[in-house]
This record gives sequence, structure tokens and C-alpha cells, in this order.
Amino acid sequence: MASLATSPTLSGLDPQSDAANPHWTRLADTRALDAIPGEDGWPIVGTTFAVLADPAGYGQRMRAKYGPVFRTNSFGGRSVSLTGPEANELVLFDRQKLFSSEQGWGPVLNLLFPRGLMLMDFEAHRVDRRALSVAFKPEPMRHYAGSLNTGIAARMDAWGEQAARGQFTFYPAIKSLTLDLAAESFLGLPLGPEADQINHDFVDMVQASVGVVRRPLPFTKMGRGVAARNRMVAFFTRLVRERRAAPGQDMLSQFALATTEDGSLLAEDKVVDHMSFLMMAAHDTITSSASSLVWLLAKNPEWQAKLRAEILAVTGGDGRPLAYEDMGKLELTEMAFKESLRIMPPVPSTPRRALRDFEFGGYRIPAGTSVGISSTAAHSDPAIWPDPERFDPLRFTPDQVAARHKYAWVPFGGGAHMCLGLHFATMQIRILMTHLLTRYELSLAPGYEPKWQAWPIPRPTDGLKLELKSLLPD
Ligand code: HEM
Repeated sequence: MASLATSPTLSGLDPQSDAANPHWTRLADTRALDAIPGEDGWPIVGTTFAVLADPAGYGQRMRAKYGPVFRTNSFGGRSVSLTGPEANELVLFDRQKLFSSEQGWGPVLNLLFPRGLMLMDFEAHRVDRRALSVAFKPEPMRHYAGSLNTGIAARMDAWGEQAARGQFTFYPAIKSLTLDLAAESFLGLPLGPEADQINHDFVDMVQASVGVVRRPLPFTKMGRGVAARNRMVAFFTRLVRERRAAPGQDMLSQFALATTEDGSLLAEDKVVDHMSFLMMAAHDTITSSASSLVWLLAKNPEWQAKLRAEILAVTGGDGRPLAYEDMGKLELTEMAFKESLRIMPPVPSTPRRALRDFEFGGYRIPAGTSVGISSTAAHSDPAIWPDPERFDPLRFTPDQVAARHKYAWVPFGGGAHMCLGLHFATMQIRILMTHLLTRYELSLAPGYEPKWQAWPIPRPTDGLKLELKSLLPD
């Protein structure tokens, strides 16, 4: 396995490029894609700006014009979008091992989050995923539930005080809370300067992964991101050694002691890379999904009331924690969360690269083609979801779910790479709802509607101004 010392970053090659990855499959001739309907856009920039201006609208226009399979030319090359539940199943379930996740995500993430699970394929991926799964078994999950309950409950007063001054914006508040919770649950760090530094470095890395300049030049996001990664790797390496000597109940301790099928510990640099990737995979996704759920509940007070009643019935009152054993009892809360993930999936599209020629929708797509599936497209198709813009959690009753294609709803992906943290994410959201909804009534100022930036991970551009009315007796 490549270690940091031999990583292409230090050897001068851009690790996100094909040149640094001779084992990646290349498209023999991009003209082979001419037969697939679509657009090349402008010289050099292609269709990039049209996609960035309105990703969902662009996808809708392309589907309306060309059908469910179409070609675009964004972010430096031609790629083929495959849309609809059948496409999701083909690519995500990947029965025939046709698609590489490493080669799909590598060009975006290799510089800052190399060798994470999503950047591994097939047998190597299976072995590491199995080892890391120990961190999501019931015992560690019960421990995380405890610290999430304590950490979230402790933040509620401060949010109420900000709201009373008319200064509460939800997105930055949940982002900072989620970082603090991760420092504790993931790394076992007490809140303080060390956790602040690691949170700061981590934010720089995430920012850089979507920066426009893709080389780590001074004064660029990428320059700051790579410097932050170097600090983080050094810090995590020290932590792994400490956790191996004296394990705690945090996720890093679980990873540090995780063993592969032959009984050996995962290598130290693997643990570091997996942890750093996992924090990235967890952070903006939870922040985004909590923001869209809170926004939809503020707009739909009748649903907010139903969830509040359900939570009160299960926990017994304000300030009471949601016990790990009771998670499954919050059925309406789970349906509301699923519906918000349908309306605003945090990972709007998923890239792969074809390892062999294949056929789909009547087209022959050659080996080496970058392909993408779109959860946004599947989640907004009126043929599957009548009146798709309406917030209706009852779309997720067991009967409704059974009647739909299994791959019509894919916010967590599917198949071998299905989100490893989906139960953690669902648990954090349920605990957040438990403390927030029993303490406050959520609303938006009359006439206020936040704008959402759709890509790469949806977020409200103004931070989502939220009004909180205390439900505690005076
Ligand atoms: C609402 C929150 C979340 C959403 C919507 C989400 C979505 C996704 C999606 C769509 C994938 C698959 C990508 C692909 O197939 O290429 C994925 C993978 C992954 N997610 Fe999540 N995620 C969320 C939260 C989390 C959390 C909280 C964690 C960790 C605690 C996490 C850890 C991972 C990991 C490790 C992978 C890679 C799995 C693999 O490749 O085997 N995610 N996530």
C-alpha cells in the first residue's frame, strides 16, 4: 500500500491524475462516446458552468431532451450520466464488477482523502470494510448514543439564546456542533484547544477538496488543505499509537484495534487514512441533512407536531435522552428524515469509471468512460414520486416502500459501497430531533425562504435563519 512517504503528492505528480495512477482504466478514444446523445458545451470549460449554475435543472433539461442516458463535458472531460432506478441498480449493486469507485472518486478526492473506503475497489475494499465495521456494532453505537445525547442536550440553551437575540442561523450552528460531537465520538478528544485545531484543519481539507485550483499552491484553498492534511496525519498517527496502548470507546480506538481476516491489526497509516476519510464522509452530509430536515419541519408545522408527540411518548419529556434501545420506536421521525433525504440528497451524484465495455438503455458504453448516477434525478421523478416537491413522510410507510423499485431512493448509495455510517447518521438525527423539538417550536420568518446551493453538498447559502420558540414553562 502507498504510504504518505511514497505518495504521488510528494513525488510531484498530481495524485488525482491518470498519470499518477497507471492502473486506472483509460478511454481508448473519447470519440467512442459520440454515439451517446449529449452536449460538449464551450471550448475548454465544456458544460461545467451550466452544471454549476443549476445542477438539478441542468440534469432535468438534459433528461427531457436526450432521455435517461446522456453525455456531458464537465470538470475536465466527457462523462455519461445514467439516470433512473435501473441505472442506480446497475451501477451501485454492480453484479458484474464493471465499475470502479476508486477511479470515479479518485480524481476528486485523492489529494486530500486518499485511500478511504470509497477509494478502494473489490477484494481490498471488502477486507478493510469488514474490519472497520466493528466500529458500528451495537456496543460502540450505544456508547456514541450516550455522548451524542449529552453533547446535543448541552447545546440547546445556547441556540435558544441566539434565537432570542434574532441571531440564530442553523447551518453554522449544526456544523460546529457536529464537529464537536465528532471530536468526542470519533476521536475520543475532550472539547478544548486540541479539538478546535483538528476541527479547523479538517474544515480546511474539506474546503480544499472542492477548491477551483487543484494544485497545492501557496495562498490557495488547496495549499491550506494539503498543509492541514499533513498536520492531521501527524496528529492521528500519534493518537492511533495512544489508543492502541490504552483504548477508549471512541471510533478511532475501534479502528486502531480492528483486525483483518488473518487476525492482523490494520496498518497504522491505513487507520489514519480511513479515519480521516470517514470524518469527511460524515461531516458535511450530516450537516446538510439536518439542515434540510429542520427547514422542512419549520415549513410543515403539522409534521413537526407529530414528531414532537412521538418523541415525547417515547422519551417521557423535555431534556430526557433518547435511549439506544428506543431508536427504532421513532418511526414517524425516521420517515420524515427519509423524505428530507429524498427531497435534498446530501450526495446528489455518484461517480464511477467503467472497467469494461457495457450496454445500457440501448447504448454501448466503452471501458474507461466516467459514468455518474444521480440520486437527485431518481428522487424527483414524478412517475415514481407524485407531486415530488411536496413534503410527505408517508411515502415511506412499509407498504409504499415495498411497492417501489428498490433503487428509487438511494441517498446512502447501495451495494458494496453503501454508506457505512448510515445508522450513525440516522441516530444523530433522531437524537438531535429529540432535544430540539421537545425544547423548541421551529419556524421561519413570514415570507422568508432560504436559497440552497445544490453542489457539491447542498447547503443554505445564507445559513438558514431559524426562529425558535421555547416550549418550556416560564
Ligand atoms: C445523512 C448522512 C449521510 C449520507 C446521505 C451519506 C451518503 C453516502 C453515500 C451516497 C455513500 C456511497 C458513495 C458511493 O457509492 O460512491 C456513502 C459512503 C460512505 N459513508 Fe456516508 N453518508 C452519510 C453519513 C455518513 C456518516 C455519519 C458516516 C460515518 C460515521 C459515513 C461514512 C461513510 C463511509 C465510510 C462511506 C464509504 C463506504 C464504502 O465505500 O464502503 N457516512 N455515504
